[in-house]
Amino acid sequence: MIDLDRRNFMKTATAGLAAVSSFHIGTPKGVAGPNDRIRHAGIGIGGQGRRLCETFASFDDCELVAICDVDPGRRADAKRRIPNSDKVREVEDYRQILDDPTIDTISIGTPDHWHGPLAIAGVLAGKHVYVEKPCCHNLHEGRMMVEAAKKTGKCIQHGTQSRSGQGTLEGIEALREGVIGKVRMAKAINSQLREPIGRAKPTDPPAGVNYDLWLGPADQTPFTQNRWHYNWHWFWDLGTGDLGNDGTHQLDVARWGLNVKSPHSVSAAGGQLFYDDDHETPDTQVITYEYDDCYLMYEMRLWNNYKLEGFHNGVTFYGDEGILGIEPSGCYIQKIGAEREKFTEGNQFSLHIRNFLDAVQAGDPSKLNAPIEVAFDSVTLVHLGNIATRVGTKLHYDGVAGRFKDNDAANDLIARNYRKGYELPTV
Ligand SMILES: NC(=O)c1ccc[n+]([C@@H]2O[C@H](COP(=O)([O-])OP(=O)(O)OC[C@H]3O[C@@H](n4cnc5c(N)ncnc54)[C@H](O)[C@@H]3O)[C@@H](O)[C@H]2O)c1
Repeated sequence: MIDLDRRNFMKTATAGLAAVSSFHIGTPKGVAGPNDRIRHAGIGIGGQGRRLCETFASFDDCELVAICDVDPGRRADAKRRIPNSDKVREVEDYRQILDDPTIDTISIGTPDHWHGPLAIAGVLAGKHVYVEKPCCHNLHEGRMMVEAAKKTGKCIQHGTQSRSGQGTLEGIEALREGVIGKVRMAKAINSQLREPIGRAKPTDPPAGVNYDLWLGPADQTPFTQNRWHYNWHWFWDLGTGDLGNDGTHQLDVARWGLNVKSPHSVSAAGGQLFYDDDHETPDTQVITYEYDDCYLMYEMRLWNNYKLEGFHNGVTFYGDEGILGIEPSGCYIQKIGAEREKFTEGNQFSLHIRNFLDAVQAGDPSKLNAPIEVAFDSVTLVHLGNIATRVGTKLHYDGVAGRFKDNDAANDLIARNYRKGYELPTV
């Protein structure tokens, strides 16, 4: 995928679009269910998990059969809001989903600390997996996910839906065609206004919630409203900060456009410079990833409500003949001395899920637009950036060995400790 050339690119793009307009249910090759509809279960059904379930259920060849969440309030809310979900089974413990041989596919919309363990357990249990971004909470998990996908031959699609977006695909094609000349730098911009979270005292978890299962592999910390739905993003043992949240999308597109894999070094600075609240992760962060012939820069401010380079979140590629910008809703090109030219926009999200279902129907992970090995290369940048920020020094990285060359403190952050009973499944 990283070496996507024009021929492969056109094949991928055309296949994706054709699939949307003329998909027919055929004999499934990758599906183990009793009929030829894919039987799907959503695990973690907060805002994004519910959106995933709704989209899966919207395709004729897919049936939403179960929703799983440790919070009964979230399950009830999903049942209320997902059309025709009266018969959808409600489950608290994901192990019941994995043990059910009639379920073909799962989507994972839990907090980040559960993504890797659930995805690995999922493919080992024979399911195809759609996992939200960032695919892993640490570098070790990501590697194990790639191994697990290889070993089982199952699909793991990453929730970086720009990979299926027409605007992004046209932008990448234009870069490959040299439309803005030689590109030696890309800037991934994550500039938006996020609300402060204040300070929260420990309380009992809400009634009926299985907080132990919610914590899973993470440390046994007391419940607070801030270390709970959505705000877990800002705590290191649960989330990956906004670099792993929105930043994953921008870094993925930037890396794809530059056509690079693992940088040889990374330097970063970041901190909580604006808000005074419970956040552990930065609200302001700048990172430089160095490659042999180009730089990838990441710039994050979570206290801006204005656009830069034309967008809040997006990537600008700098060539010697102009610039090219890619954002979620499309892409533009501005050649030196010319007006800005705007490209296509499109619904990336349902195209991306359609692409996953097509790969599952074909039983062929090579059809995925965001397979785990490509996802892991991009999410590696998230972890390198966060580790460099936390260690506070320039780091040299060996992408083949998956280790930092010169820093024990950084190497200590490659993996996490898993709480007893929630160890990473062995691949
Ligand atoms: N692709 C995108 O554009 C996009 C957009 C938004 C969010 N996301 C990703 O989706 C994920 C979820 O985000 P959110 O905002 O919905 O978070 P959220 O905290 O609102 O929802 C997470 C849900 O997972 C449940 N959960 C936690 N542990 C569980 C377990 N072991 N078993 C079952 N359920 C469990 C929680 O109870 C909660 O309902 C995040 O990783 C986020 O990065 C992706």
